[in-house]
Amino acid sequence: MNEVLLDAVGISVRRRQWITLHPSDMAVGAGERVAVYGPNGAGKSTLLQALAGLLPLSAGTVAMGGEIVGKTLDALTYHRRIAAVFQEPLLLQGTVAHNVELGLSLRGVDRAERQDRAQAMLRRLKIDHLANRSVRALSGGEAQRASLARALVLEPEILFLDEPFAALDQPTRRRLVPEMTELLRERRMATLFVTHDIAEAASMCDRCVIIDAGKIIQDDPTEILLDSPRTPRVAEIIGHG
Ligand SMILES: Nc1ncnc2c1ncn2[C@@H]1O[C@H](COP(=O)(O)OP(=O)(O)O)[C@@H](O)[C@H]1O
Ligand SMILES: [Mg+2]
Repeated sequence: MNEVLLDAVGISVRRRQWITLHPSDMAVGAGERVAVYGPNGAGKSTLLQALAGLLPLSAGTVAMGGEIVGKTLDALTYHRRIAAVFQEPLLLQGTVAHNVELGLSLRGVDRAERQDRAQAMLRRLKIDHLANRSVRALSGGEAQRASLARALVLEPEILFLDEPFAALDQPTRRRLVPEMTELLRERRMATLFVTHDIAEAASMCDRCVIIDAGKIIQDDPTEILLDSPRTPRVAEIIGHG
């Protein structure tokens, strides 16, 4: 791994009396793309939310660049340095351009720079022709492109993606997955990508973490994982079973 960007040590999450994430260690290197793969209910979203500071931890620490979130790095600053996209596009009212600029306004970026950056990102995601369209009048694929633009325009140090393609039809996914891979690669954007599609995990990510019943059961470069699942359960989960 390159220089460690995000470093979680012994993080666990408890929901009522259930432990939904058992104490886990996980690190993401600068520019690294890591997939989190596992069956439904395994704890993928829980792990992502715990790392992204969206869920209270019952134990452990998350550090970025060596600074512990909630201690030497305050939570608000951490949130400003990361971005997330979920299965459902997260768009408010107004036009696509307005939505893509919103995070930049909240960060105090002036109007001219905001417009330039938003326009460049819309162009990069091939939705510049939709800049002035209301977000309510978008197809699923267009709305998810707008959501990705909204997150990427912030130039986060790490991007959290929780099944962003899961609600899209197959042809749309087949276009978007390689495009996103290319974009993330060209920007050397550290990414944590939750998916329940092993082919997507393999095409987008260098490394893959397998989670089952709230436990990380393998964490390896994607090729190694696919060639040599460590246990019969991992083999079963990735479809070698
Ligand atoms: N808001 C919640 N309250 C209580 N339990 C939850 C909540 N969200 C998820 N869970 C439970 O936590 C476990 C892991 O869920 P989740 O992280 O959403 O799994 P995945 O994303 O892998 O499908 C599951 O058993 C699920 O039922
Ligand atoms: Mg989930």
